Amino acid sequence: MPGLLLGDVFPDFDAETTTGKIQFHDFLGDSWGILFSHPRDYTPVCTTELGRAAKLSSEFTKRNVKMIALSIDNVEDHCGWSKDILAYNNEEPGCDLPFPIIADSQRELAVSLGMLDPDEKDKEGMPLTARCVFIIGPDKKLKLSLLYPATTGRNFDEILRVIDSLQLTAQKRVATPADWKPGDRVMVLPNIPEDEAASLFPAGVYKKDLPSGKKYLRYTPQP
Ligand code: BEZ
Repeated sequence: MPGLLLGDVFPDFDAETTTGKIQFHDFLGDSWGILFSHPRDYTPVCTTELGRAAKLSSEFTKRNVKMIALSIDNVEDHCGWSKDILAYNNEEPGCDLPFPIIADSQRELAVSLGMLDPDEKDKEGMPLTARCVFIIGPDKKLKLSLLYPATTGRNFDEILRVIDSLQLTAQKRVATPADWKPGDRVMVLPNIPEDEAASLFPAGVYKKDLPSGKKYLRYTPQP
């Protein structure tokens, strides 16, 4: 059964969260969005991930990306666990996390969004949620998804890096190469003819000579 595919409109679900009931598309408004799921509250790797996500929240705001987490416990557990996450970050217990956490204790969203990890089970033998990342564009379409098993924590610097690439390539007719970082040179899209590339990228197009003689490896400074 195929799950959500890139380009699909992301489901407009409603959910209880730590900041009240939401309708997902209304929550996103005109912003980009990131939905990241967690296997369970009060677990070590998830605590480090949510702590890191909270520390980086201003970076997501800067990029106009609304953050929302999901874990398969209820709002009460999420609120108790949030205090531990803030303590892990050495922050005041009184303040809230800078994003809501969706309560999915019946695993309804985890099932419908294809998030379950069949290899990781809870005490009752029920599969836990995998570490999914969905990045959704302002058009509500899925732009990127990542799926990690419960035993591997995510790298939130990498998530910001891919958002930078997604936002750049949504605006400019370029692609970002392996290990690209903002400010590095980018690749000219293969479907742009040479004369058009020259006018589109006045900073210059560098073509790497290759044994095939084909001129497809074309770089330009980041526009
Ligand atoms: C964790 O977050 O530490 C975790 C959760 C479920 C399985 C393995 C690790």
